[in-house]
Amino acid sequence: MERKKVILDCDPGHDDAFAIMLAVQNLSVLGITTVGGNSPLENVTRNALKVLEVIGHADDVPVFAGHSCPMVAPLVTAPMFHGESGLDGPVLPEPTHVPREGHAVDFIVDTVMSEDDVTLVATGPLTNIAAAINREPRIVGRVREICIMGGSVTFGNWTPAAEFNIYVDPEAAARVFESGMHVKMTGLNLTRQSGFDEGIIRRFDTLGTRAGTFAGDLTRFFMSAGRKINDPTVACMHDACAVAWLIAPELVKSAPMHIDVELSGTLTRGMTVCDYRHLCGPVPGVDVCREAQTPYKGKLPNAEAALELDYEGYVDLVCDTLARYN
Ligand code: RIB
Ligand code: CA
Repeated sequence: MERKKVILDCDPGHDDAFAIMLAVQNLSVLGITTVGGNSPLENVTRNALKVLEVIGHADDVPVFAGHSCPMVAPLVTAPMFHGESGLDGPVLPEPTHVPREGHAVDFIVDTVMSEDDVTLVATGPLTNIAAAINREPRIVGRVREICIMGGSVTFGNWTPAAEFNIYVDPEAAARVFESGMHVKMTGLNLTRQSGFDEGIIRRFDTLGTRAGTFAGDLTRFFMSAGRKINDPTVACMHDACAVAWLIAPELVKSAPMHIDVELSGTLTRGMTVCDYRHLCGPVPGVDVCREAQTPYKGKLPNAEAALELDYEGYVDLVCDTLARYN
Protein backbone atom coordinates (compact mmCIF):
# COMPACT_ATOMS: atom_id res chain seq x y z
CA MET A 1 0.00 0.00 0.00
CA GLU A 2 1.36 3.45 -0.92
CA ARG A 3 2.73 5.34 2.06
CA LYS A 4 0.83 8.47 3.14
CA LYS A 5 2.74 11.68 2.37
CA VAL A 6 3.05 13.70 5.58
CA ILE A 7 4.55 16.84 7.03
CA LEU A 8 5.22 16.43 10.76
CA ASP A 9 5.04 19.66 12.79
CA CYS A 10 6.42 19.05 16.26
CA ASP A 11 8.17 20.32 19.41
CA PRO A 12 10.60 17.49 20.38
CA GLY A 13 9.99 16.53 23.13
CA HIS A 14 10.36 12.90 24.20
CA ASP A 15 7.04 11.79 22.77
CA ASP A 16 7.60 13.84 19.61
CA ALA A 17 10.79 11.79 19.17
CA PHE A 18 8.64 8.64 19.16
CA ALA A 19 6.33 10.30 16.63
CA ILE A 20 9.31 11.04 14.37
CA MET A 21 10.60 7.45 14.59
CA LEU A 22 7.15 6.00 13.82
CA ALA A 23 6.54 8.42 10.94
CA VAL A 24 9.91 8.10 9.20
CA GLN A 25 9.79 4.28 9.17
CA ASN A 26 6.11 3.91 8.15
CA LEU A 27 5.07 7.03 6.23
CA SER A 28 6.55 9.23 3.51
CA VAL A 29 7.79 12.18 5.56
CA LEU A 30 8.21 15.13 3.19
CA GLY A 31 9.61 17.27 5.98
CA ILE A 32 9.64 18.02 9.67
CA THR A 33 8.74 21.49 10.89
CA THR A 34 9.38 22.70 14.41
CA VAL A 35 7.47 25.01 16.73
CA GLY A 36 8.13 26.48 20.15
CA GLY A 37 6.38 24.37 22.78
CA ASN A 38 7.95 21.80 25.08
CA SER A 39 11.13 23.83 24.81
CA PRO A 40 12.16 27.03 22.98
CA LEU A 41 12.37 26.81 19.18
CA GLU A 42 16.16 26.53 19.05
CA ASN A 43 16.07 23.48 21.33
CA VAL A 44 13.20 21.65 19.62
CA THR A 45 14.83 22.22 16.22
CA ARG A 46 18.15 20.89 17.45
CA ASN A 47 16.31 17.93 19.00
CA ALA A 48 14.52 17.08 15.76
CA LEU A 49 17.91 16.93 14.04
CA LYS A 50 19.31 14.77 16.86
CA VAL A 51 16.46 12.27 16.54
CA LEU A 52 16.90 12.06 12.75
CA GLU A 53 20.62 11.44 13.24
CA VAL A 54 19.92 8.65 15.75
CA ILE A 55 17.77 6.86 13.16
CA GLY A 56 20.04 7.71 10.23
CA HIS A 57 17.60 9.90 8.30
CA ALA A 58 19.01 13.39 8.78
CA ASP A 59 20.10 13.48 5.14
CA ASP A 60 16.75 12.53 3.61
CA VAL A 61 14.24 14.26 5.90
CA PRO A 62 14.52 18.08 5.85
CA VAL A 63 13.90 20.10 9.00
CA PHE A 64 12.51 23.65 8.89
CA ALA A 65 12.24 25.90 11.95
CA GLY A 66 8.92 27.66 12.45
CA HIS A 67 7.35 30.02 14.92
CA SER A 68 9.09 30.50 18.24
CA CYS A 69 6.04 31.74 20.12
CA PRO A 70 2.23 31.46 20.04
CA MET A 71 -0.02 33.80 18.05
CA VAL A 72 -1.16 35.82 21.06
CA ALA A 73 -0.13 34.29 24.38
CA PRO A 74 3.44 34.20 25.70
CA LEU A 75 5.27 30.88 25.19
CA VAL A 76 4.80 28.30 27.95
CA THR A 77 7.35 25.47 27.98
CA ALA A 78 7.50 22.15 29.85
CA PRO A 79 11.05 21.66 31.20
CA MET A 80 9.65 19.75 34.18
CA PHE A 81 8.73 16.92 31.77
CA HIS A 82 11.30 17.24 28.96
CA GLY A 83 14.25 18.83 30.78
CA GLU A 84 16.02 22.10 30.00
CA SER A 85 17.19 20.84 26.58
CA GLY A 86 13.74 19.55 25.68
CA LEU A 87 15.21 16.05 25.28
CA ASP A 88 17.01 15.36 28.56
CA GLY A 89 17.89 11.78 29.44
CA PRO A 90 19.43 10.17 26.35
CA VAL A 91 23.09 11.16 25.89
CA LEU A 92 23.36 12.37 22.28
CA PRO A 93 26.07 14.27 20.40
CA GLU A 94 25.39 17.76 19.06
CA PRO A 95 23.83 17.32 15.62
CA THR A 96 26.10 17.74 12.61
CA HIS A 97 23.11 18.60 10.42
CA VAL A 98 21.42 21.99 10.37
CA PRO A 99 17.86 23.06 9.55
CA ARG A 100 17.11 23.99 5.92
CA GLU A 101 16.89 27.61 4.81
CA GLY A 102 13.39 29.03 4.87
CA HIS A 103 10.54 29.22 7.35
CA ALA A 104 8.46 26.20 8.30
CA VAL A 105 5.24 27.96 7.34
CA ASP A 106 6.53 28.60 3.83
CA PHE A 107 7.59 24.95 3.54
CA ILE A 108 4.14 23.78 4.63
CA VAL A 109 2.34 26.11 2.20
CA ASP A 110 4.66 25.48 -0.74
CA THR A 111 4.57 21.71 -0.26
CA VAL A 112 0.79 21.46 0.12
CA MET A 113 0.24 23.74 -2.89
CA SER A 114 2.57 21.65 -5.06
CA GLU A 115 1.95 18.10 -3.80
CA ASP A 116 -1.43 16.38 -3.87
CA ASP A 117 -2.84 14.37 -0.98
CA VAL A 118 -0.52 15.61 1.78
CA THR A 119 -1.48 14.84 5.38
CA LEU A 120 -0.43 17.23 8.13
CA VAL A 121 0.54 15.77 11.49
CA ALA A 122 0.91 18.16 14.42
CA THR A 123 2.25 17.08 17.78
CA GLY A 124 2.95 20.47 19.31
CA PRO A 125 1.16 23.80 19.59
CA LEU A 126 -0.66 24.59 16.32
CA THR A 127 1.04 27.94 15.71
CA ASN A 128 2.71 26.95 12.41
CA ILE A 129 -0.42 25.27 11.07
CA ALA A 130 -2.63 28.27 11.81
CA ALA A 131 -0.05 30.60 10.28
CA ALA A 132 0.04 28.44 7.14
CA ILE A 133 -3.76 28.57 6.85
CA ASN A 134 -3.68 32.35 7.27
CA ARG A 135 -0.90 32.71 4.68
CA GLU A 136 -2.61 30.47 2.12
CA PRO A 137 -6.24 29.51 2.92
CA ARG A 138 -6.32 27.23 -0.15
CA ILE A 139 -4.29 24.63 1.76
CA VAL A 140 -7.47 23.80 3.70
CA GLY A 141 -9.03 22.30 0.59
CA ARG A 142 -5.85 20.65 -0.57
CA VAL A 143 -4.64 18.73 2.47
CA ARG A 144 -5.98 15.19 2.89
CA GLU A 145 -6.49 15.84 6.62
CA ILE A 146 -4.65 16.95 9.73
CA CYS A 147 -4.02 14.54 12.57
CA ILE A 148 -3.08 16.25 15.84
CA MET A 149 -1.98 15.18 19.26
CA GLY A 150 -3.78 17.74 21.34
CA GLY A 151 -6.87 18.50 23.31
CA SER A 152 -9.07 16.01 25.06
CA VAL A 153 -12.65 14.81 24.94
CA THR A 154 -12.51 14.73 28.72
CA PHE A 155 -9.80 16.01 31.07
CA GLY A 156 -6.78 18.22 30.58
CA ASN A 157 -3.22 17.95 31.83
CA TRP A 158 -1.76 21.46 31.94
CA THR A 159 -4.96 22.60 33.63
CA PRO A 160 -7.94 20.50 34.69
CA ALA A 161 -9.60 21.53 31.43
CA ALA A 162 -6.80 22.11 28.92
CA GLU A 163 -4.18 19.89 27.30
CA PHE A 164 -0.71 21.45 26.87
CA ASN A 165 -0.52 21.81 23.06
CA ILE A 166 -3.88 23.56 22.88
CA TYR A 167 -3.24 25.55 26.08
CA VAL A 168 0.01 26.99 24.72
CA ASP A 169 -1.66 28.45 21.62
CA PRO A 170 -5.47 28.27 21.85
CA GLU A 171 -5.96 30.96 19.22
CA ALA A 172 -4.00 28.86 16.72
CA ALA A 173 -5.94 25.75 17.69
CA ALA A 174 -9.26 27.57 17.27
CA ARG A 175 -8.15 28.69 13.79
CA VAL A 176 -7.37 25.11 12.79
CA PHE A 177 -10.60 23.61 14.16
CA GLU A 178 -12.79 26.27 12.51
CA SER A 179 -10.83 26.33 9.22
CA GLY A 180 -12.75 23.55 7.51
CA MET A 181 -9.68 21.30 7.48
CA HIS A 182 -10.68 17.75 8.51
CA VAL A 183 -9.18 17.33 11.96
CA LYS A 184 -8.41 13.99 13.60
CA MET A 185 -7.95 14.77 17.29
CA THR A 186 -5.81 12.38 19.32
CA GLY A 187 -6.58 13.77 22.73
CA LEU A 188 -5.44 12.90 26.22
CA ASN A 189 -8.53 10.73 26.68
CA LEU A 190 -6.91 8.43 24.09
CA THR A 191 -3.21 8.89 24.80
CA ARG A 192 -3.65 8.15 28.51
CA GLN A 193 -4.49 4.58 27.34
CA SER A 194 -1.02 4.24 25.77
CA GLY A 195 1.32 4.11 28.76
CA PHE A 196 4.58 2.15 28.52
CA ASP A 197 5.66 0.38 31.72
CA GLU A 198 9.02 -1.07 32.78
CA GLY A 199 8.26 -4.26 30.85
CA ILE A 200 7.83 -2.33 27.60
CA ILE A 201 11.04 -0.42 28.31
CA ARG A 202 12.84 -3.75 28.65
CA ARG A 203 11.32 -4.77 25.29
CA PHE A 204 12.77 -1.60 23.74
CA ASP A 205 16.17 -2.22 25.30
CA THR A 206 16.36 -5.77 23.94
CA LEU A 207 15.37 -4.95 20.34
CA GLY A 208 19.06 -4.74 19.44
CA THR A 209 18.77 -1.46 17.54
CA ARG A 210 19.98 2.04 18.39
CA ALA A 211 16.40 3.24 17.93
CA GLY A 212 15.26 0.69 20.50
CA THR A 213 17.86 1.73 23.06
CA PHE A 214 17.04 5.39 22.36
CA ALA A 215 13.34 4.67 22.91
CA GLY A 216 14.14 3.00 26.22
CA ASP A 217 16.19 5.99 27.38
CA LEU A 218 13.46 8.43 26.32
CA THR A 219 10.79 6.47 28.16
CA ARG A 220 12.85 6.05 31.33
CA PHE A 221 13.44 9.80 31.55
CA PHE A 222 9.81 10.68 30.72
CA MET A 223 8.55 8.21 33.33
CA SER A 224 10.81 9.62 36.03
CA ALA A 225 9.97 13.23 35.14
CA GLY A 226 6.25 12.55 35.12
CA ARG A 227 6.12 10.50 38.33
CA LYS A 228 5.59 13.60 40.42
CA ILE A 229 2.06 14.11 39.09
CA ASN A 230 1.29 11.15 36.81
CA ASP A 231 1.02 7.44 37.38
CA PRO A 232 4.66 6.65 38.24
CA THR A 233 4.52 3.19 36.70
CA VAL A 234 3.91 4.23 33.07
CA ALA A 235 4.94 6.86 30.55
CA CYS A 236 2.48 7.93 27.86
CA MET A 237 4.22 8.89 24.62
CA HIS A 238 1.23 10.97 23.59
CA ASP A 239 2.46 12.10 20.17
CA ALA A 240 3.20 8.59 18.96
CA CYS A 241 -0.53 7.80 19.18
CA ALA A 242 -1.37 10.43 16.55
CA VAL A 243 1.10 8.94 14.08
CA ALA A 244 0.04 5.38 14.91
CA TRP A 245 -3.55 6.33 14.04
CA LEU A 246 -2.38 7.38 10.56
CA ILE A 247 -0.24 4.27 10.05
CA ALA A 248 -2.82 1.75 11.33
CA PRO A 249 -6.31 3.29 11.49
CA GLU A 250 -7.68 0.04 12.90
CA LEU A 251 -5.84 0.72 16.17
CA VAL A 252 -8.16 3.60 17.09
CA LYS A 253 -11.92 3.77 17.49
CA SER A 254 -13.16 7.30 16.94
CA ALA A 255 -16.32 9.33 16.57
CA PRO A 256 -17.30 12.46 14.64
CA MET A 257 -18.11 15.45 16.78
CA HIS A 258 -18.00 19.23 16.79
CA ILE A 259 -15.00 20.61 18.68
CA ASP A 260 -14.55 24.23 19.71
CA VAL A 261 -11.60 25.76 21.56
CA GLU A 262 -12.33 27.90 24.61
CA LEU A 263 -10.38 31.17 24.44
CA SER A 264 -11.71 33.27 27.29
CA GLY A 265 -12.72 31.00 30.15
CA THR A 266 -10.94 31.83 33.39
CA LEU A 267 -10.77 28.17 34.31
CA THR A 268 -11.16 26.69 30.85
CA ARG A 269 -8.95 28.65 28.43
CA GLY A 270 -7.44 26.12 26.01
CA MET A 271 -10.14 23.50 26.60
CA THR A 272 -11.34 21.54 23.56
CA VAL A 273 -15.10 21.67 24.03
CA CYS A 274 -16.30 18.44 22.42
CA ASP A 275 -19.97 18.02 21.55
CA TYR A 276 -20.53 14.30 21.78
CA ARG A 277 -24.12 14.41 23.00
CA HIS A 278 -25.07 12.34 19.95
CA LEU A 279 -22.93 9.56 21.42
CA CYS A 280 -24.82 9.53 24.71
CA GLY A 281 -27.73 7.56 23.32
CA PRO A 282 -29.45 4.55 24.92
CA VAL A 283 -26.11 2.71 24.96
CA PRO A 284 -23.40 5.40 25.34
CA GLY A 285 -20.18 4.68 23.49
CA VAL A 286 -18.58 4.39 20.10
CA ASP A 287 -21.15 2.06 18.48
CA VAL A 288 -23.93 4.60 18.86
CA CYS A 289 -22.08 7.17 16.79
CA ARG A 290 -22.29 5.10 13.63
CA GLU A 291 -26.08 5.57 13.53
CA ALA A 292 -25.95 9.16 14.71
CA GLN A 293 -25.35 10.69 11.31
CA THR A 294 -26.71 14.08 12.38
CA PRO A 295 -25.54 15.76 15.60
CA TYR A 296 -27.81 15.89 18.62
CA LYS A 297 -29.07 19.49 18.21
CA GLY A 298 -25.37 20.52 18.02
CA LYS A 299 -23.20 21.92 15.28
CA LEU A 300 -22.19 19.61 12.45
CA PRO A 301 -19.05 17.65 13.30
CA ASN A 302 -15.80 19.33 12.27
CA ALA A 303 -13.51 16.65 13.62
CA GLU A 304 -13.01 12.97 14.35
CA ALA A 305 -12.06 12.39 17.98
CA ALA A 306 -10.10 9.31 19.04
CA LEU A 307 -11.84 7.40 21.81
CA GLU A 308 -10.42 3.90 22.21
CA LEU A 309 -6.92 2.50 21.59
CA ASP A 310 -6.00 -1.09 20.74
CA TYR A 311 -3.11 -1.04 23.21
CA GLU A 312 -1.54 -4.38 22.28
CA GLY A 313 -1.64 -3.51 18.60
CA TYR A 314 -0.13 -0.10 19.33
CA VAL A 315 2.75 -1.54 21.35
CA ASP A 316 3.45 -4.10 18.64
CA LEU A 317 3.53 -1.35 15.98
CA VAL A 318 5.99 0.71 18.05
CA CYS A 319 8.27 -2.26 18.79
CA ASP A 320 8.15 -3.56 15.20
CA THR A 321 9.02 -0.09 13.94
CA LEU A 322 11.96 0.37 16.31
CA ALA A 323 13.25 -3.09 15.41
CA ARG A 324 13.27 -2.21 11.70
CA TYR A 325 15.79 0.60 12.14
CA ASN A 326 19.25 -0.75 11.59
O1 RIB B 1 0.00 17.14 26.31
C1 RIB B 1 0.95 16.35 25.66
C2 RIB B 1 1.57 17.11 24.54
O2 RIB B 1 2.27 18.24 25.04
C3 RIB B 1 2.62 16.30 23.77
O3 RIB B 1 2.65 16.75 22.44
C4 RIB B 1 3.90 16.67 24.45
O4 RIB B 1 5.04 16.55 23.57
C5 RIB B 1 3.66 18.11 24.77
O5 RIB B 1 3.98 18.86 23.60
CA1 CA C 1 4.74 17.41 21.42
